[in-house]
Amino acid sequence: MNVIIITGASSGIGKEFALQMDAAFSNVDEFWLVARSRDKLKETAAAMEHKTRILAMDITKDAQLERLEDTLTEKNAVVRILINCAGYGLMGSFEKQNREEMLGMIRLNCEALTNLTHRVIPFMRRGSRIIQLASSAAFVPQPDFAVYAASKAYVLSFSRAIGKELSDQGIYVTAVCPGPVRTPFFDIAEKTGTTLAIKKYTFVSPRRVVALALKDSYRRRAMSVCSIPIKGFQGLTKFVPHEIILEAMMLLKKKGFY
Ligand SMILES: NC(=O)c1ccc[n+]([C@@H]2O[C@H](COP(=O)([O-])OP(=O)(O)OC[C@H]3O[C@@H](n4cnc5c(N)ncnc54)[C@H](OP(=O)(O)O)[C@@H]3O)[C@@H](O)[C@H]2O)c1
Repeated sequence: MNVIIITGASSGIGKEFALQMDAAFSNVDEFWLVARSRDKLKETAAAMEHKTRILAMDITKDAQLERLEDTLTEKNAVVRILINCAGYGLMGSFEKQNREEMLGMIRLNCEALTNLTHRVIPFMRRGSRIIQLASSAAFVPQPDFAVYAASKAYVLSFSRAIGKELSDQGIYVTAVCPGPVRTPFFDIAEKTGTTLAIKKYTFVSPRRVVALALKDSYRRRAMSVCSIPIKGFQGLTKFVPHEIILEAMMLLKKKGFY
């Protein structure tokens, strides 16, 4: 049985992946939709033509990922594509963060993504693909978004490294690095702080991010960066010393651009 697994499929970018791939793929038997909210996953499934399997689970719980792995074995599944979208961010100063929520972000964005990727690779075949949601926050450290940016730097570094390891087996990995995307992400992220005002001019739709990510994954690109301002930001972080960028961010903050 050929399957596509999407985490975070109940909302935002993950849901958009499910809908666009449902329309584009014909040789897939089932989409496995993963998130905690069963009702929202049902809404995603109801909008799709393909057969779906709803896996309502908290992927930070190892026992739940073990169940997913057992189901892959039972169904003799071949995973054609794994998309790791589940994730959250928290803005605001590090010292004022709620410790449990902050550590939960590392558990979800880094540990669960790594755990699931490791469990799923044995079910992949030549031509299978992995799409990991990193962020443009991965390009440079970000004051007032410190743990989130560090977690996404992990995702980007990890994805590029395993992409090299897996390419001999014909498995391709793409790290998607969008800037701000219009999704419920900010309902959680802005509970504890605000985003740099300048970033608000760079918002893109999930539709655009996902369409490019699918193209880049198909072209076996290691990274997918959507929109000219974010490509410009990526270029800047390659050529300008990070200390100067960090000082500029702090200056913007002092001038009230947060
Ligand atoms: N939006 C942006 O501006 C932006 C920019 C760059 C990168 N990203 C990244 O893109 C990814 C998707 O974000 P989004 O914008 O689509 O945000 P979103 O709409 O808030 O979606 C987050 C998804 O993660 C799921 N999730 C959260 N905790 C989970 C858990 N413990 N176990 C399983 N699923 C869990 C949520 O579903 P449940 O609540 O039902 O579990 C939801 O489906 C994230 O990794 C985010 O960091 C977003």
